[in-house]
Amino acid sequence: MTGAYRKAYDESIKNPEEFWGRAAKAVHWDRPYDRVLDDTNKPFYRWFAGGELNTCYNALDRHVKDGRADQAALIYDSPVTGRVGRYTYRELLDRVALFAGVLADNGVKKGDTVIIYMPMIPEALVAMLACARIGAVHSVVFGGFAPNELAIRIDDARPVLIVTASCGIEGKKVIEYKPLLDRAIELASHRVARTIIYQRPEARAELIAGRDIDWTEAEKKASPAGCVPVKATDPLYILYTSGTTGLPKGVVRDNGGHAVALAWSMKYIYGVEPGEVFWAASDVGWVVGHSYIVYGPLLYGCTTIMYEGKPVGTPDPGAFWRVISEHKVSALFTAPTAFRAIKKEDPNGEYLKKYDLSAFRTLFLAGERLDPDTYHWASDMLGKPVIDHWWQTETGWAIAANCMGLEPLPVKAGSPTKPVPGFQVEIVDGDGKQVPAGSEGVVAIRLPLPPGTFPTLWKNDDKFRESYLDIYPGYYFTGDGGYYDSDGYIYIMGRVDDVINVAGHRLSTGAMEEVISQHPDVAECAVVGAADSFKGQLPLGFVVLKSGVERNPDEIVNELVRMVRDQIGAVACFKQAVVVKRLPKTRSGKILRGTMRKIADDETYSVPSTIDDPVILNEIKDSLASVGYQKV
Ligand code: COA
Ligand code: AMP
Repeated sequence: MTGAYRKAYDESIKNPEEFWGRAAKAVHWDRPYDRVLDDTNKPFYRWFAGGELNTCYNALDRHVKDGRADQAALIYDSPVTGRVGRYTYRELLDRVALFAGVLADNGVKKGDTVIIYMPMIPEALVAMLACARIGAVHSVVFGGFAPNELAIRIDDARPVLIVTASCGIEGKKVIEYKPLLDRAIELASHRVARTIIYQRPEARAELIAGRDIDWTEAEKKASPAGCVPVKATDPLYILYTSGTTGLPKGVVRDNGGHAVALAWSMKYIYGVEPGEVFWAASDVGWVVGHSYIVYGPLLYGCTTIMYEGKPVGTPDPGAFWRVISEHKVSALFTAPTAFRAIKKEDPNGEYLKKYDLSAFRTLFLAGERLDPDTYHWASDMLGKPVIDHWWQTETGWAIAANCMGLEPLPVKAGSPTKPVPGFQVEIVDGDGKQVPAGSEGVVAIRLPLPPGTFPTLWKNDDKFRESYLDIYPGYYFTGDGGYYDSDGYIYIMGRVDDVINVAGHRLSTGAMEEVISQHPDVAECAVVGAADSFKGQLPLGFVVLKSGVERNPDEIVNELVRMVRDQIGAVACFKQAVVVKRLPKTRSGKILRGTMRKIADDETYSVPSTIDDPVILNEIKDSLASVGYQKV
């Protein structure tokens, strides 16, 4: 061991200004910052205050000027359409500048918000960078969300316009976006006067005259727009993420801290070099897509890959190995569930044997806990380091990781290794007191959080404080539970709130409960995240019917499944619910969701001393048994 990790970590905590000031040299500043860390308005911290830059300039123009013009910036690999496209840095810059001109022609100015609702096509990345180029704030909405979810985001972000495509392709299904968009605009209170639609040949959209603009036609009339410098502390994007209620939280990302942190992470966490191919097999609608399909690799001068396909079925479980070998990928980042999907279909790695993976160095996994079985399978199959790392939409980059470019530490299965420089991670009890190694508690991070993490929630400082900072003063509350072992390795065991993780997708059980409660026959309900060996967790509903309702429970459950799919989206994977007589509650009326989850997962549980009526727990067990529910 070289001690490089410990040295960097200690410096980042003791002397953050020097540490991040040095890292900031990797970024081109239009105006130098006055201070690395502005802590004059605690608990709000601002990084690189006074500085000005443009994130798109740093991701594209700078590389074109510095000799990367002819290097591939983006490879689009789409097994669902059979298309593969390559864009050099110069070509991508030209496309982004032109589309920035389209946005400007349509009234988008610095500081305006733009919603991007798009599938995994290059135009999604082009639209994001075009916003950044003119200082507009983008908010990408994952294509798997239903119109209602899009409408909620429209009302909070209040966009000047929405950029979308005519359709997405999910395996073999063509999903038309236009009807979803129209419905969302209808549902939203904020008036969206304009949309820009990229027409895909798989399903062309019917445009509404006076509102919808054809992307390609608009480009014909536009001229390229230049980069508009923005403050380091100005927002680059808003990304909505699930909280405990039906209202998602608008996580804000700044420009300066974000550029510095992501460039640093590419070198020191992912251990790649400019010019190498970095592939994040995620979706631009999630934070992983923002940070490591779009911004991180481009800020650092890598080639990024936009993959429109799945780990299996497009066409087979060798899909990832094909992409790695065809495009000479150095590092792949995906979610453990993707590997569980491959393992299920190709347990002995027969497809892997067909491809040359000699250029491939490291597999990074995140988005959910990396269970030891999946870790061992992936590392035995690949014979390369498999690195678990833990992060959240709020932080934008890894909180804990094995920093491959700094000092690779021995891997311990089940642990994302140690806190990344900049993150002072502690385990605390209910009173906010640190607990000793080996004891489980809530994972909290001492303020200030490092650059690149969220400075606040969109136009909602109060909710930011309330949800994250007031719980344990002086700390950021992560919402995760976990512990340290005696070697200082951290273990993240799952959420302590009502957020669940389904196939690496973060979802709110509260949002599902809100939908279910709207059913005319439902008196009350609870949704928990039950264990699932493939997707990690799956939502499971417990429903109490109104007295006098005598309909067939299966019929009601089917209606609830349809409602959640229609109002939240297929991605919620809400497919199972059971009708129960009563819900277990504490005497003060709090529903005991944790205990119900344990019953569903067949785990031992203690009967809470505060429970209103312990008999209800047996009723829950019986109801699950009566519908043949079994943990998978
Ligand atoms: N647009 C529309 N629908 C979508 C969608 C999108 N962008 N993404 C998913 N869906 C739909 C799916 O088609 C599926 O619909 P169905 O119920 O009709 O079958 C449903 O939402 C559930 O999707 P998912 O949970 O993703 O299941 P899946 O079987 O389609 O795929 C995996 C399973 C594991 C292959 C896939 O979830 C995956 O690759 N996960 C990686 C997660 C990830 O990228 N996380 C980000 C952090 S790294
Ligand atoms: P998201 O904001 O969608 O990135 O989801 C963040 C949540 O996913 C975290 O709060 C964790 O609960 C979970 N998560 C992400 N990465 C990991 C990991 N490596 N190990 C355990 N849980 C993880």
